[in-house]
Amino acid sequence: MCGIIGYTGHRPALPVVLEGLRHLEYRGYDSAGVGYVLQKKLHRVRAKGKLHNLEDALTNLGAAITVSCAIGHTRWATHGIPEERNAHPHFSNDGTLALVHNGIIENYQELKAELVQKGYGFESDTDTEVLINLISFCRQSEPSLLAAFAKALSLAHGAYAVCMLDCEAPQTLYAARMQAPLLVGKGVGEYFIASDIPAFLASTRDVLFLEDGEIVVASPNTCSLYTLTDIVHPLKREVQTIQWGIQAAQKGGYRHFMLKEIFEQPTVIQDCLSGRIKADNHIDLPELASMPLPKQIHIVACGTSYHAGLWGQHILENLAHIPVTTEIASEFRYKERFLIPQDDLVLVISQSGETADTLAALRTAKEHSIPTLALCNVLGSSLAREADRVCYTQAGPEISVASTKAMTSQMLLLTCLALFFGEKKGVLDPLQQKHLLATLKTLPITLANELPTMHEKAKFLARKYAQAKSFFFLGRGHCFSLALEGALKLKELSYIHAEGYACGEMKHGPIALIDPHFPSLVLALDDAFYPKITSNVVEIQSRQGRVIAITNPGTDIAVDDRWEIPKVLDPLSAFCVLPCLQLFSYEMADYLGKDVDQPRNLAKSVTVE
Ligand code: F6R
Repeated sequence: MCGIIGYTGHRPALPVVLEGLRHLEYRGYDSAGVGYVLQKKLHRVRAKGKLHNLEDALTNLGAAITVSCAIGHTRWATHGIPEERNAHPHFSNDGTLALVHNGIIENYQELKAELVQKGYGFESDTDTEVLINLISFCRQSEPSLLAAFAKALSLAHGAYAVCMLDCEAPQTLYAARMQAPLLVGKGVGEYFIASDIPAFLASTRDVLFLEDGEIVVASPNTCSLYTLTDIVHPLKREVQTIQWGIQAAQKGGYRHFMLKEIFEQPTVIQDCLSGRIKADNHIDLPELASMPLPKQIHIVACGTSYHAGLWGQHILENLAHIPVTTEIASEFRYKERFLIPQDDLVLVISQSGETADTLAALRTAKEHSIPTLALCNVLGSSLAREADRVCYTQAGPEISVASTKAMTSQMLLLTCLALFFGEKKGVLDPLQQKHLLATLKTLPITLANELPTMHEKAKFLARKYAQAKSFFFLGRGHCFSLALEGALKLKELSYIHAEGYACGEMKHGPIALIDPHFPSLVLALDDAFYPKITSNVVEIQSRQGRVIAITNPGTDIAVDDRWEIPKVLDPLSAFCVLPCLQLFSYEMADYLGKDVDQPRNLAKSVTVE
């Protein structure tokens, strides 16, 4: 979604802001802009399309190079098409205030109508221009700009993160958040306001996390926090230090962030397990200490995190004998009848911890007094703060829009959870537990050894199948959720139509689509499902369908392309299957010349409904 960066300090602000925007590019955007005050007048430069268009427009900065406070924005269109006039910052009619904004003001039409009646005019189609004029209007009757800012924001309904400049106080940034991420970076003699940490990570790791309904007023040497309802008594907030550095948010020699993140998975597995497998071969999750065993678990998530949840359902039911449902958050949040009892657990999964639907689902569960647990990657994110308990997936920053290593870490944590609950419930077979833990410990090495070979095979297959217009991804058991994920990755990255199916469902309709131009990628591991899967493959081949099979050495499946991966104890084989699917889509998209790290129409963190 949109990205915000504001800077106030002692350095030339525009290069700092541009650099910040570059680090926010991964969130997805279709226009960008910067704003600053020069000689008591507000200025802005905006451009449609990618950041280099904005940079081109900013080549002759002239005196503006001296400004040491500025705001910047990458916009992902919600209200109004991606045009320069809709790009941020937006100015108040009197030209004294400038605003960048993430989120949606739901009542902007009513607010706009009232402002039009009062004589305000609008150049853009955005809710942001309404908000900045509302602040400007409130300024006429309020004793200070801070009071007007708080008043206007309390009249706005919906989600927002905003950062504002005033031409009369050129070194001061005003910012606020409500259900959209915003944080403050604290440097030496400088402050940053940003929607995500990478925007300022090159300058500081010291962060102040904001809560919903809070306001920040920052200038180079001071930063005060208030709430929308109290702008007199400043809040106290501890500075937190981020544990990862800027290297983690750079490509590190890889062609794309996505490739880097796929290759980071062995380390991610190690990091996620570290401290969680005890010397006495037990899983330790101190975050869950004293939590009663749930009767049933309801997993709620979106997209790739939902697929991780589906995989987790399989593992939790098999190892912990706890019934599990898995639901898409945008459906869960609008349940007409909420039938979940209070001794169940709602388990929300999210890489970003800011996904609007998942957050709303969590809030719904809390409203019904259901215990909640979040599996989340981003420290201090809304989900992490609002859930009763949180287990961090410790995957490090995921920059590529398409989620890869985050899913691996979610699946790993779900495995830990299943082992933890299974042991607590007394249903876990000690021998199975021993074998699973032993396999988990060797997974990082197994995967690190295999990734280069997998990559080569993915390259070969991507070139061979690049002409396909559609693909099936098929699996059974725990591999069904991986098939869904394989299809999602292919469509979002290469824009090739792809569908994930349970193998056994093919004969109930989808097989009608099979012809020589509609290939299938089948997950045919050497497990209990193998005989069934080979029958399904024969059915596809009888209709002249081409088949790629991800399988293990020693199987006899005869297909167009065998893709052999080492045999790993089930269901942990998933940790070798998933990178193959990710690499296949990555290579396909790269070969077809697509924008791998920022696929069209997508955003990294979906903070709107
Ligand atoms: C796909 C992808 C998305 C996200 C989904 C949920 O590659 O990244 O489907 O998984 O938007 O995001 P989080 O996990 O941040 O809640």
